[in-house]
Amino acid sequence: RRIAVLASGRGSNLQALIDAIAAGRLAAEVVGVFSDRAGAGALERARAAGIAAVSLRPRDFDSRPAFDEALFSRIDGVQPDLIVCAGYMRLLSEHVVEARAGRMINIHPSLLPAFKGLHTHQQALDAGATEHGASVHFVTAELDGGPVIAQARVPVLPGDDAARLAERVLAREHPLLLATVGALVEGRVRLLAGRVADRGRPL
Ligand code: GRF
Repeated sequence: RRIAVLASGRGSNLQALIDAIAAGRLAAEVVGVFSDRAGAGALERARAAGIAAVSLRPRDFDSRPAFDEALFSRIDGVQPDLIVCAGYMRLLSEHVVEARAGRMINIHPSLLPAFKGLHTHQQALDAGATEHGASVHFVTAELDGGPVIAQARVPVLPGDDAARLAERVLAREHPLLLATVGALVEGRVRLLAGRVADRGRPL
């Protein structure tokens, strides 16, 4: 199965995919990494692994739909079966999302539907949450609002600040993403009529 990854930042989730594939733990191939930031660490990680790395600058385009059209025409060029948003920090326009329903997922660092958007760890601390975590969901036009496929939970501990909590969550994000991508590429999970179907074995 061919996977395209969208990332704006450091790319540790991308690296987890690359490493699992190299170790034979995931029967897939990362066929391209795409970014809205030329300096994204994810692009360097891709190049180091011999994977095509593409970045486009949003400011070179007149509108979000124009940028998304250009980016997704590059993505379509690598013919992905699955598109993984792993720390992609830009809103996606409705038309690119809807055309790929069921073939695009996102990893978000909260137990959705709690704490959508940015600064999720601080949001969890401010809300006095005792539990926090990460979710992988199908991407829909609603930001962080698509059907959740799987989640990983961590406790919020006394003395936590956003950085410590982020670190605890991130350690769980990598196996969560691998397990979810594995379930998708093996066809154990899919989107059916807007819902997650055939959950298969628990992640
Ligand atoms: C992760 O916390 C992910 O859940 C969020 O952005 C972060 C990306 O980290 N959407 P990395 O770039 O994969 O290291």
